[in-house]
Amino acid sequence: MSNINRRSFLKGSGIAATLPLMGVASTVLAKEKDVANTGTTLDYPETTVANVQKLAVNEAVNFSYPDSASPCAMIRMGKAVPGGVGPDKDIVAFSILCSHMGCALLYDATSRTFKCPCHFSIFDSEKSGQMVIGQATENLPKIQLLFDDKSGEIKAIGVDGLIFGRQANIG
Ligand code: FES
Repeated sequence: MSNINRRSFLKGSGIAATLPLMGVASTVLAKEKDVANTGTTLDYPETTVANVQKLAVNEAVNFSYPDSASPCAMIRMGKAVPGGVGPDKDIVAFSILCSHMGCALLYDATSRTFKCPCHFSIFDSEKSGQMVIGQATENLPKIQLLFDDKSGEIKAIGVDGLIFGRQANIG
């Protein structure tokens, strides 16, 4: 293939136009890598919510976290569930402000779900607060828990997901 033919071939196939973009692509990738290395860690408080010995199975314990304006509930499900902590990996906690418009959710022990009295969304407490049905489009924010096997205390240490109505979980 002569030089002219090779040039024509590259031009016609679009390869010549693509080569400079490859440099741009590698620059973009490098920047994305930089962004991935700059994750922020919010300064969440560590708050004792309950002692495992006082938690009845399938009963919601209400508390506030990370501040008094954020109602949450902790439940000992009685069997291991995704993200569960404690000796039986069955303790979970969620923000109970509905992810639709912020109404306070009620725990229904029969179905083991959180139900919204406003527009009837339902969230599954055994499946990480997954939205099951209704107007909401997001799962419940999950409270990160830490179990101390010496004292039996369960502490709230963070939140996975944005609490309804906030731009940041910590003000
Ligand atoms: Fe809960 Fe609308 S506020 S479904």
